[in-house]
Amino acid sequence: MAVLTGCQPDASPEAKKAFEGVIPKPVSATLAKGRFEITAKTQVLVPAGSPVVKAVADQFTALINPATGFNLAAAESAADDAANVITFSTDTALGAEAYVLTISSDSVKLSGGGPAGLFYGVQTLRQLLPDKIELTSQQPGPWELAAGTIRDQPTYAWRGSMLDVARHFFGVEVVKRYIDLLALYKFNTLHLHLSDDQGWRIEIKSWPNLALHGGSTQVGGGAGGYYTQEQYKDLVAYAQQRFITIVPEIDMPSHTNAILASYGELNGGITKVPKEGRIELPDGKESGKGRPTQLYTSTEVGFSTLQSSMPATTKFAEEMLAELAALTPGPYIHIGGDEAAVTPHEDYIKLTNQFIEIVRKLGKTSIGWEETAQADIKGEHRVQYWTRAEFAKMGKDKGAKLIMSPSKRVYLDMQYDSNTRIGLNWAAYIEVDDAYNWDPATLEAGITQADIVGVEAPLWSETVENLQDIEYLVFPRITAIAEVAWTPAAARNLDNYKSRLAQQEGRLKYLNVNYYPSPQVPWAK
Ligand code: ACM
Repeated sequence: MAVLTGCQPDASPEAKKAFEGVIPKPVSATLAKGRFEITAKTQVLVPAGSPVVKAVADQFTALINPATGFNLAAAESAADDAANVITFSTDTALGAEAYVLTISSDSVKLSGGGPAGLFYGVQTLRQLLPDKIELTSQQPGPWELAAGTIRDQPTYAWRGSMLDVARHFFGVEVVKRYIDLLALYKFNTLHLHLSDDQGWRIEIKSWPNLALHGGSTQVGGGAGGYYTQEQYKDLVAYAQQRFITIVPEIDMPSHTNAILASYGELNGGITKVPKEGRIELPDGKESGKGRPTQLYTSTEVGFSTLQSSMPATTKFAEEMLAELAALTPGPYIHIGGDEAAVTPHEDYIKLTNQFIEIVRKLGKTSIGWEETAQADIKGEHRVQYWTRAEFAKMGKDKGAKLIMSPSKRVYLDMQYDSNTRIGLNWAAYIEVDDAYNWDPATLEAGITQADIVGVEAPLWSETVENLQDIEYLVFPRITAIAEVAWTPAAARNLDNYKSRLAQQEGRLKYLNVNYYPSPQVPWAK
């Protein structure tokens, strides 16, 4: 039976609430009267001859088919005037990550500036549907969307999180789960901290001991692990399908004990002995210049270093970074560069210059922690701010764009408060309001939005051992960071965010996310 215009049933209060509850908050969302119901007969239409659009539409149907029990499949068609249709299209007038979603009683029209924009539109559609859409068994409907228009695009191009897989190793399935959760909140970058004093986590065929020996333990002395190149490629592809770029980091010249333990020819002998002591080798001889160090499983920082005086250092950096670049379709390689407390300053500059140049010659853009601003950097290098504004400004003054990771706001390994069962607190306790209530463009004097490519929230893993731990520290704060990076500052409001966050509770539960039930959030009882 045809429903006459003007006599449309209105959307339910739940559907209207969902329309206004999206995280990150869209640039504009205007409710209209009416509702669209996805049914077994809904057609999902894509333009002919556009496999990239079809691929995103296929992701949408794969997302909604299990819980709805429908068997929707995207079909190529030019007909967009039919009723009960969801159409996917691209509109080059929009930015690549922008989308427009128009919902009426007849149709849902999703238009993206590119496939990424369409994918973000799908994540919005997902949040407009009832929470039980996240379940993988068939649920009762109706699958209702409130009518209205959402126009949306990100404020910052870089919306990232970092996972430290070096202090504790996390396998492929855990990283895929993390990618899935990042995608729901429109993140586009996953930085993997692949090496540190305690472990090396990526197979390098020309320097095999890095993974075989350097990857053989972790903080606390557990078994550690590493990604084979095949596993790593699989992760990169999995992330790419979700419009997430993986940025690999090899931290140098400090945070390198796992390297020095794997290859004695890289050990120039400079070290500050950590409190527990680590220079005694099993054979009773000291680990000095030219001899491997012991593996290290505690959590001090800044005691290890590569040295330019060791002839093997350049060969190591060139061969290792070449293999890493070959595994990296994305444009970036992160060279670390933080906390080089025992590296002589001149050598720090020399080595950092060298690593940046190697990355450049490999056709990639280098990124370094804020300390790398001291090197002879130029505009193409990116500086990742984490604690010292003077380094961020130095980077900006040398023409480098900044990635904002202020440790007091976005370090996801910081405890929520003194009772949090894991995590550290050297930067701050970070509750939900602290993670939300800041603006990258006004955080530090002299740094403006034009200097910033975006925001990244690192999860360091000294105290983080498994997926449950990861989720407890990451959720719900990551949703605050998502909004800081996506939504214009003028459109953000803490109380409004907290009420929308409370609305995410059912979805997080159905997704089995082990979130911290912050007392600041008005969760449903
Ligand atoms: C850092 O937190 N050492 C970058």
